[in-house]
Amino acid sequence: MLDPFTCAALAAIILLGLLYISTWHRSAPPRCPRYPHTDPIFGSDFQKKTQAATAQGQRQAWFRANFHSLGRTFEVKQWGKRIIHTCDPANAQFILYTQFERFGLGPSRRPSRPWLGEGIFTMDGEVWRKARELVKPIFLKEQIADLARLERHLARLFGELDKAGHVVDLQPLFLRMYLDYSIDLLFGDDVNTISGESAKIDADVFIDACDQSLLQVVRSQTPWPLRWYYGWTKTWNQPFHLSQAFVDRHVDTALQTAQNKVPNTETSSPAFIDQLVQHTRSPDRLYLRNQMLNIFFPARDAAGIAISLIIFFLARNPAVYTRVRTEVQQHTGGSSKSVDTLTYNAVKRLTYTNAVVNETLRLYGPTGHMHRDVLADTTLPHGSGADGSQPLFVRKGSAVVIHMHAIQRDAAAWGSDANVFRPERWLEASTAAQRRAWEYLPFSGGPRVCPGQAMMLAQLVYIVARFALTYSEIRNVDVEEELVEEHRILMKIRNGVQVRLVE
Ligand code: HEM
Repeated sequence: MLDPFTCAALAAIILLGLLYISTWHRSAPPRCPRYPHTDPIFGSDFQKKTQAATAQGQRQAWFRANFHSLGRTFEVKQWGKRIIHTCDPANAQFILYTQFERFGLGPSRRPSRPWLGEGIFTMDGEVWRKARELVKPIFLKEQIADLARLERHLARLFGELDKAGHVVDLQPLFLRMYLDYSIDLLFGDDVNTISGESAKIDADVFIDACDQSLLQVVRSQTPWPLRWYYGWTKTWNQPFHLSQAFVDRHVDTALQTAQNKVPNTETSSPAFIDQLVQHTRSPDRLYLRNQMLNIFFPARDAAGIAISLIIFFLARNPAVYTRVRTEVQQHTGGSSKSVDTLTYNAVKRLTYTNAVVNETLRLYGPTGHMHRDVLADTTLPHGSGADGSQPLFVRKGSAVVIHMHAIQRDAAAWGSDANVFRPERWLEASTAAQRRAWEYLPFSGGPRVCPGQAMMLAQLVYIVARFALTYSEIRNVDVEEELVEEHRILMKIRNGVQVRLVE
């Protein structure tokens, strides 16, 4: 006679076996190549190797190596679930655009909902569509063209560089600058954390609470006995509440301002929160808070990382920097006093500098891959067959991961020098065609494309141009020449951007 514990254990094993059979074997042939698991049920071997590569700062190279050996689309097991990894542009287009409705983010982003609530970042379907409509005003042409707000924060960064004596790690400074900028753009609050003189205690609490909340969201995906063992459940909601309270205070002020019809004259263009309150005419504080947190989260670090990556490459490619300087000087008259001539239209005309930005984001971006849950049975255009060019059936409940990083380094599309930093390629006609062909996706694509894309591209070129007008050289002082990745939700540079700036 078996004791109850053994019975329960046996039942669990049988259930897991059934789960394995139903998800792994049920899907209709033909299949795509499978990762050669030693643990084909949980896929722990693949996860461990991915973690090891991540710890070494080589995660992207690890995935590129897998695509090289298995093909552009392959599948792995993860906790019994089928995950399709793909770097095939036709599949990317299908998932992000053609059959967009069959793929979603909702299920995988559910753990962040107690913090961010329902909004553009956490939801699919109608709630997402409505939230997407709401963010449109921040990204209208006149807002994108307004570089004055960014310049205020950039001027402070230059002030900090003067104090630092010009040998600095730029990455933390860029992250602070863009944190200040995001809070200014979204909440209309000038927190000035970059100078370290912030008198805004509540902003410091907010930023810290956001970091803690993110950690809690990641921890919440750990099985509960471990969460309980590490004591992660005790103070579960505290950072969520702290960050939400900061947003609530700004929502209240915006509601008050709207009621009194006091125009906001402090900033160059109205803060998003004021536009949101005016546009929705909703007094629903929770709804407004959710919308704000859902946009602050994706906006927060991506831009600071992107400009860090660009300067990282410029510091290692002095000839490229010289060419950027020549272009910027020709277009502006050439001194740091020419800032006024750096309008949005002027920035767009800096062809080579734009190429530098594009080339950097091709090689490395803050977001190297995107996850999607399969919401309905469907057939990807490519993945099966001897060369992976035949259709691939994917069942509801599985997941797909699009690797933009690998797509953007595919030699078949980008040539044998795909791994080389060569901005000149963007001046060649063939590159323009690739961009249209879903082979360049740093901001994703389709209906869920990053709404910040146009604003970001203009700002990144603007910052590079401001550096070019200020410094004759940007010299790398890091002994590590190659980029070592550091992955959290986004990818940063592990060693930062250690440079000597020469005036
Ligand atoms: C260089 C900087 C940036 C890069 C590379 C970037 C990239 C991306 C990517 C790849 C996505 C798609 C994520 C996914 O679907 O899984 C995304 C989404 C998003 N981004 Fe950005 N982003 C940047 C800056 C910004 C900024 C500054 C803002 C806001 C001010 C912003 C707002 C958003 C929002 C709201 C979404 C969600 C859109 C949706 O799901 O409909 N991003 N971004």
